[in-house]
Amino acid sequence: MKMFNRNTIFKVFTLFLFIGLLLTIIGCKKVEDIPYEGESMSYELPVLNYTYDSLAPYIDAETMEIHHTKHHQSYTNNLNAALELHPELQIPIEELLADPSLIPSDIRTTIINNGGGYFNHALYFSILMINNGETPTGNLGLAIDIAFNSFDDFKEAFTTAAATRFGSGWAWLIVTNEGLKIVSTANQDTPLDQGTPILNIDVWEHAYYLNYQNRRADYIEAFFHVINWDKVAELYEDSL
Ligand SMILES: [Fe+2]
Repeated sequence: MKMFNRNTIFKVFTLFLFIGLLLTIIGCKKVEDIPYEGESMSYELPVLNYTYDSLAPYIDAETMEIHHTKHHQSYTNNLNAALELHPELQIPIEELLADPSLIPSDIRTTIINNGGGYFNHALYFSILMINNGETPTGNLGLAIDIAFNSFDDFKEAFTTAAATRFGSGWAWLIVTNEGLKIVSTANQDTPLDQGTPILNIDVWEHAYYLNYQNRRADYIEAFFHVINWDKVAELYEDSL
């Protein structure tokens, strides 16, 4: 007795062919995502998922547009120009910033400044949305309570870090092995060597001067109205 007739063999063959195709589609990156030999890594200005006027009155539309289309675009362009000098450098920007010794010496300062500018603004613009006074809940809310006792204590510590950063820089909420921490950095430096950033505030004057002039404290207070806590919670979960 024949175990398999021709029809059964055809069905089994078709099934394996289908599974193979499915695994190929799932497992493969798009061809254009894979750098070919000699091609430098490059970055694009992230597209915002909100309009420039949607954070008003806390952050005005003109500030948002200039900040995104001029400042962030400039950091992105400068980063790409530096990377073009070293097409062999196929390391994601987060890893380079976490360990600058990986960066060739002739472009190290440029990458720290402009790669930092690219990364820092990408995070900043991604966590903005009017929150109508909502505060973090769930695992993030719990982690904030554990690290800082309460949301109000967290807000006070974050505000102090942002207000006391001398000159231009950033304040951050980062995830470390010991839990959440608040840090601040100068210029476009990142805290990637200390932990995973999930929230940051840009305290360069270009982030607030049109609306708040020299009143950084007012901008920081307004910033708490436009933190997208759902996004921050998502980044927190991803970091674990
Ligand atoms: Fe900025």
